[in-house]
Formats: sequence, structure tokens, C-alpha cells
Amino acid sequence: MSIVTLSNHKTFTAQGDKSLLDCAKSQGTVLEYSCRTGRCGVCKANVLQGMTEVVQPELALTEDERASGAILTCCRAAITDLELDIEDLGVLADIQVKTIPCRLDTLERLADDVVRVVLRTPPNSALFFLAGQYIDVIGKDGVRRSYSIANAMRADAKLELHIRQVPDGVMSQYWFGEAKANDLLRLEGPLGTFCLRDTQTTNLVFMATGTGIAPVKAMLEALAAAPESLGDKRIYVYWGGRTEADLYWHPDFPTLGLTYRPALSRANSQWLGARGYVQQVVLAENLDLNDTSVYACGSEAMIHTAREVLTQAGLPLKHFHSDAFVSSN
Ligand code: FES
Repeated sequence: MSIVTLSNHKTFTAQGDKSLLDCAKSQGTVLEYSCRTGRCGVCKANVLQGMTEVVQPELALTEDERASGAILTCCRAAITDLELDIEDLGVLADIQVKTIPCRLDTLERLADDVVRVVLRTPPNSALFFLAGQYIDVIGKDGVRRSYSIANAMRADAKLELHIRQVPDGVMSQYWFGEAKANDLLRLEGPLGTFCLRDTQTTNLVFMATGTGIAPVKAMLEALAAAPESLGDKRIYVYWGGRTEADLYWHPDFPTLGLTYRPALSRANSQWLGARGYVQQVVLAENLDLNDTSVYACGSEAMIHTAREVLTQAGLPLKHFHSDAFVSSN
């Protein structure tokens, strides 16, 4: 058995070939994570002392990161006592993950390849979650897919999801061909650590591509529910798509006074908004990145590029929070 010490002096024990992330979780210590499969890089940590071993491939690490002692806590087990340079997320420690039945409440087409699905949970089984987290929906034959919750907690406990069609996707066949109101499904959640942090920065930047806008919508709803907590913060929302049809929603939060910049990478000549990739549009805003927190959700490619270009431009890495959509058929 090994003792793992975090930079805020919290400790947990690690045993056998169980990942550090799972060991921490089983003892009520929540470390940053999203995909749990080595692909998103959210669970990255630096080993300050001690030795670890790989239990699944660390796909999200670059050679330079490996050489400098970085690991992914979802992919590594402890060999000796360890010191890691990360802190736990106390705010998530009380959130209980559960598997519960649910029914499909409504299903509505938002774009050619996106549907809005609303799920309802049984009475007395409401899911308590933080805006930005995701759930796994478990369908026929146990097929399981992850979807961000697109709303903050609401009185009727319903959960909204924005689901993009994946060509030949097993679950897509269900959502876009067979699903109907009152279908019985199961869900596990809430999962992930993508949520609003208690940071002192003036600028809050939300950036998304495609259905990555779903958790951003949830976070904006949570902020709109407590506008007095915002003080002099300024909120910016950047949403990128290829064509106008991809931007199927509009942020309408008058109390937040937010700046909204939709951006298209393949805009036609009539488009009056920003052009290019969403991270370029954020850079062009010329914000004081040292005084900014970023919440990014979308494709793996966008998250990796955004993290790189924004931190190079002065954003402290600890102020970049992300949830990458890792695709599966
Ligand atoms: S790489 Fe570990 S949670 Fe995604």
C-alpha cells in the first residue's frame, strides 16, 4: 500500500494496479478527470516524488510532458509513496454518483444532426449535480455513451442533453431512429469535474464547439440563478461551428450582460459574425489573459489547440478548465 500526498497536503492510499484516480475516488477524494481513458489529458499531474506504473496507455501526453515527469492519474498506479503537484476538488466530494432508471421525456430536433433529449428521473431520485458535469446514458444491450447535462439543476429534476449524430454510431441509431417518449433507459452520474471554480479572475471565458455548448449553457444558467455572486466579473461566450446551421442555440441571459461571439470556420459571404476557429476569436479579443478563467468544451482537437495557444499567450494553465468530447461509435 502506498500513500499519495497532494499539494494541498491531502492524502489517500493507493493499492495494487488500481489507477490513482480510482483509488482517490474510492476514499472520497475527487481529482480532476473527464474521459477516464487516457485521451483527454484533464487528469494530468506531475510526480514530484516516487514511482508509478502504467495501467492503460497515456495517449494524451506528449513526449516532452512524459520526459518532464507528467502522468495521467487515470492511467497510472503507485509503486511507492508519491507526491503529486495537484489538489483535490473539495467542492465535488459530496456529490454522489448513482445509477438510476430514467424515462425519455421529450425529444426534439435542434439541427439536422443534433437532437435535444430531456430525461426525467423517478420521483425521489433526483440527480444532484454541478452545472458542467456529464452523465452516461445506458441504452439497449448495455451500450453506454457520455453526454453533458445542458441545464443547471431545476425544480422538476429533468435533465436536458444535446446529442449529435455520429455516422454509424450504435447509440445514434437509437436517438435518431427509434427513440420515443416514455422509453425506459438508465443513467449513471453525475460524472466529470468540469464545473465553475471559485476563482478571482475578472474575465470568465466560455468557449465551445458543436454540442460542447451544452455544459456552457448549464453553467450560464447556474450563474444567472445567482447574479449577485458575479460582482464585477465580465462574461464572454464563444461558440464555433462550421456553418450557421451548427449554431442551433442562442444565449439569452439579460442579467449576465455577457458578450457573445459566434464564429464560423466555413462561413458564407453573408455571415456578419467572426470567422475562423474559436480559439483564434478568443485571442483576437485581446483580453488580459492573466486575469481570465477559461471553460472550454468541444472536440479533442479544439481543446488541445486552445490550451496551447491560450497558455502561450499568457493564460495561467490552472485557469484553463476543459471537457473534451472523446468520440465513440
Ligand atoms: S486522460 Fe485521464 S481523465 Fe481523460
